[in-house]
Amino acid sequence: MAPNINPTLPLLLLLLLFTLHLSSVSAWKKEEFRTCNQTPFCKRARSRKPHSSSLFATDVAILDGALTANLRQPPPESPDQDQIKPLLFTLSVYQNGVVRVKIDEDPSLDPPKKRFEVPDVILPEFESTKLWLQRFQTETVDGDSGPSSVVYVADGYEAVLRHNPFEVYVREKQGKRRVLSLNSHGLFDFEQLRVKQEGDDWEERFKGHTDVRPYGPQSISFDVSFFDADFVYGIPEHASSFALRPTRGPGVDDSEPYRLFNLDVFEYIHDSPFGLYGSIPFMLGHGKARGTSGFFWLNAAEMQIDVLGSGWDAESGILLPESGSRIDTLWMSEAGIVDTFFFIGPGPKDVVRQYTSVTGMPAMPQLFSTAYHQCRWNYRDEEDVENVDSKFDEHDIPYDVLWLDIEHTDGKRYFTWDRVLFPNPEQMQNKLAAKGRHMVTIVDPHIKRDESFHLHKEATSKGYYVKDATGKDYDGWCWPGSSSYPDMLNPEIRSWWSEKFSLKNYVGSTPWLYIWNDMNEPSVFNGPEVTMPRDALHYGGVEHRELHNAYGYYFHMATSDGLVKRGDGKDRPFVLSRAFFPGSQRHGAVWTGDNTADWDQLRVSVPMILTLGLTGMTFSGADVGGFFGNPETELLVRWYQLGAYYPFFRGHAHHDTKRREPWLFGERNTELMRDAIHTRYALLPYFYTLFREANTSGVPVMRPLWMEFPSDKATFSNDEAFMVGNSLLVQGIYTERAKYASVYLPGGQSWYDLRTGIIYKGGTTHKLEVSEETIPAFQRAGTIIPRKDRYRRSSTQMANDPYTLVIALNSSHAAEGELYIDDGKSFEFKQGAYIHRHFVFSDGKLTSSSLVPNAGKTLFSSACVIERIIVLGHSSGPKNALIEPSNRKAEIELGPLWLRRGKSAPVLTIRRPNVPVADDWTTKIL
Ligand code: NOJ
Repeated sequence: MAPNINPTLPLLLLLLLFTLHLSSVSAWKKEEFRTCNQTPFCKRARSRKPHSSSLFATDVAILDGALTANLRQPPPESPDQDQIKPLLFTLSVYQNGVVRVKIDEDPSLDPPKKRFEVPDVILPEFESTKLWLQRFQTETVDGDSGPSSVVYVADGYEAVLRHNPFEVYVREKQGKRRVLSLNSHGLFDFEQLRVKQEGDDWEERFKGHTDVRPYGPQSISFDVSFFDADFVYGIPEHASSFALRPTRGPGVDDSEPYRLFNLDVFEYIHDSPFGLYGSIPFMLGHGKARGTSGFFWLNAAEMQIDVLGSGWDAESGILLPESGSRIDTLWMSEAGIVDTFFFIGPGPKDVVRQYTSVTGMPAMPQLFSTAYHQCRWNYRDEEDVENVDSKFDEHDIPYDVLWLDIEHTDGKRYFTWDRVLFPNPEQMQNKLAAKGRHMVTIVDPHIKRDESFHLHKEATSKGYYVKDATGKDYDGWCWPGSSSYPDMLNPEIRSWWSEKFSLKNYVGSTPWLYIWNDMNEPSVFNGPEVTMPRDALHYGGVEHRELHNAYGYYFHMATSDGLVKRGDGKDRPFVLSRAFFPGSQRHGAVWTGDNTADWDQLRVSVPMILTLGLTGMTFSGADVGGFFGNPETELLVRWYQLGAYYPFFRGHAHHDTKRREPWLFGERNTELMRDAIHTRYALLPYFYTLFREANTSGVPVMRPLWMEFPSDKATFSNDEAFMVGNSLLVQGIYTERAKYASVYLPGGQSWYDLRTGIIYKGGTTHKLEVSEETIPAFQRAGTIIPRKDRYRRSSTQMANDPYTLVIALNSSHAAEGELYIDDGKSFEFKQGAYIHRHFVFSDGKLTSSSLVPNAGKTLFSSACVIERIIVLGHSSGPKNALIEPSNRKAEIELGPLWLRRGKSAPVLTIRRPNVPVADDWTTKIL
């Protein structure tokens, strides 16, 4: 969150305004932020007509295993038109259906400087998956007059470079159906860097800020088409619908493009294409006819993306090859190079796997961090912390992490403590740790410019701050007042920063303390659009405009590396970041920033988190309860009920709001919130298994319905319901006093109400009565969900508890599921120290087998047993089950689906099979 202040105001007045801001609630100030029309590169790109690009490819060759060419323009018709120098084009092919297209200025033609290529995002091992192209074919595609060069991509797919006019696309080999294309509409434009001449006025002004733009305009734009796509998705972060709406075209009201520019937006609204805290320029197209494809542009400058409604190009009179449905998009960036990736899918899970093979798999979180977090701006002092902590126990509500916001520091100097309020931070953390709990403190990137602050002194003397356009340390205004920002692009500075988290350097920290990175867009209260000026300078002469969207990413990376170092490489880090960029999934979790306590924001949290998951950032959540404002009790309860299914589950609130810990709203509401949190704790084994799936495949924990039902059109734009893994469907309740909810349950199989076990038919919409006790949630027939049903104070204390398996039978009386277990903490799972079970139920018999390769010598063991097996959809009658190989019998009875909740009809339960979770066994219903 950032106050809305005018940068030209003198400091004292600023301070006054700032203080006023803290106690007032004002609405989103649209005029603080630039529109496309106020952003010259965006305005120019948007006004270009289809087929205005005249680039053509020459000198096509194979070089270093890639297809290369020069992109040239015909000589200008008049001498005052710019002649662009030939651009270098490279197309490389990687394993598993990834095509990379790069276009940049030719270094041998002496550009004034090297354009910025974002480092440290692409996994080094990705390069080793490159297929070394040996040859290309030349063909004349039907309807073309000139040649195209064609290369192999994967079985059944080819990439095509059409020479004139220049166009590149991926197509199916059989039938030549296109999948994805670039520049089919001739909107490609590449503004080359220039040396300033007399009379050139390149300055840009916005709200009293001047951007000197020393190299002139340097933007890039082009169109990308997704063939056979009914909808496009992705490109977070926006508070808007999951299926992206057209921003231009017939019938579209005057709309902004989707903006990708990391910004600290005060009180963002719930339905807008404006940019928020993070940016991931990765879009997916999905349709019934073919499946899914993806397009990613690795570029960290401001980006604007139009989704073009069908008929947008009618005026050009040129039609693309016939295709069932096609979605055209326009991508515009202020700087950088073209470094793009085409993912051929064809399934949704294939596309996320392809994307994460480039940018990295989501990190495996510590188990505790997948449980419930309690935060507030601010828990005042140690006594407050102690009270809150003990109230959770008193009310029998588990929680794992207590968070401290900026007020815990000495004057917003991070890594310090306000010693009056927090005289014994280690002791405070140790007390929490005794109950298996952890603490998180906030560390922001702005460093107080205070000569007596060691961090500032050190950063200044080492020259570690970002510089302004004149070369001086950039001085901006943030929580501590005058502040400077470490230049996180520089690996040496990141390494220096990471050392600050050692137990020795971070005085008052303990091994149970983890970190929250906030304001890392970066937020600068008196900067243009509340951020750093675009002409500020980074390591290697990189302009801030070129890397803006990645600043927070490098900060997150350095912090997360710091925690790894602190733990000697033995403790998985936990760092929550507000800003993000492709690859952030490797460094920790994110949340959706400063939402508001209203129903619309509850609703939009689902498409926001779904979008993050689809683009790699699966460990994400929204502030439960809403950050700004006081939620009505019903909203708060509904938020807990929904938040219990967010991958990252944290309650948080602005300091102006009333206290809202779950026990403050009367016994009944405490019960409801406790129940929601308990549900999450019971499902932790399932969630943790899903985090591991994400960690190995990129497939998100929280998924759109169409990821599991890719050919069911009714799911494509549904963003009120979502899947948790492949087994659970959850539908939020987004209105006050709702009596009924319409819930679409996809697929040919049935669904079992998670709470009551009642069975519902799939493939239809059900009008369901809604109770205050829960939001609708269902287990899909054919799945097995592992649970832990004993409630403890924290997840850590559940480590040795037994498991319950809930088997939901499908129409063939079969089901399957998985359970992943490791030490929840270290990196030893990477060496194979984990248990991964596969449960299969068929012919009345449940079998547990290992999914660990070379399972013979397991490096991790667990003494946990399975104490209950519930079988939904089985006729009652059997009295015993036979357990092999121990040749024992276990009783079968009708029991409750949940131990502590009423409501459910009795369900078939195998009692105390007590089979070791780590072993192979079978349990046969007799
Ligand atoms: C803005 C963050 O988004 C919010 O969560 C936090 O409480 C405040 N900054 C204060 O640190």
